[in-house]
Amino acid sequence: MTIILELHNLEFAIDNRKILKSISFSWEKGESIAFIGGNGVGKSTLLKIIALLHKPTGGNLMLPDGISERSWKNNVGVVFPENFLYDSLTSQENLRFYQHLYGKADERYIDSLLHKVQLGRVMDKPVGTYSKGMKQRLSIARALVHQPEYLLLDEPFDGLDLKSKVIIEGMLAEHKHLGNGYILVSHDVKHAFELCERAILLHDGKIVLNKKCSQSSFEPFINTYRSLLER
Ligand SMILES: Nc1ncnc2c1ncn2[C@@H]1O[C@H](COP(=O)(O)OP(=O)(O)O)[C@@H](O)[C@H]1O
Ligand SMILES: [Mg+2]
Repeated sequence: MTIILELHNLEFAIDNRKILKSISFSWEKGESIAFIGGNGVGKSTLLKIIALLHKPTGGNLMLPDGISERSWKNNVGVVFPENFLYDSLTSQENLRFYQHLYGKADERYIDSLLHKVQLGRVMDKPVGTYSKGMKQRLSIARALVHQPEYLLLDEPFDGLDLKSKVIIEGMLAEHKHLGNGYILVSHDVKHAFELCERAILLHDGKIVLNKKCSQSSFEPFINTYRSLLER
């Protein structure tokens, strides 16, 4: 077992208000993890800390020996609610732009990604003309454009129709099949258990449960989640 990221008593505060409190867990190489919890419990903040977009105000975030913050960033792809796409550019141009930021130029890979997310036929149309589902599929392609080992996805299925949902599930399955991992933020426990090997339940900035996803762990997990939502 190789640990690729370890959080130890991590805290994050804004204006003296603690948003995350003593968060400890480790992420194994190739593992898929779900962060589950109601609105405002700190899921997105934790994901941004793991993407190194926020600095923790306490505790530690430890990368493996020899892995710099820069190489971690280069090995992570993010899908956040802000989609980071340029509406006036085509999907091909968007992907070229992001690939360029990582110092790469691989037109064939861009084409293959666009076909996998079923945007091949519209790849020369401005992204501003795309539906929400098409933009979200393009966001996944953007996150993968530099071939990262790890994906961080903040509610990527929110508001999507079945077609886009199935395409994104397929992208995650392929990513996993290649031996790569992801963290998926979700408030749908059933879907998260289908897509992930481990589920972490957050409430009020703290980890309440950290369980391997299985048939037997599902009921107790969802019951705890429901009881926290009712508080
Ligand atoms: N930039 C910010 N300034 C002040 N409070 C924030 C900021 N970002 C997040 N918060 C607060 O931190 C808490 C956790 O937010 P967030 O991580 O977005 O939760 P979640 O993704 O679980 O809905 C919320 O109470 C939210 O209001
Ligand atoms: Mg959020």
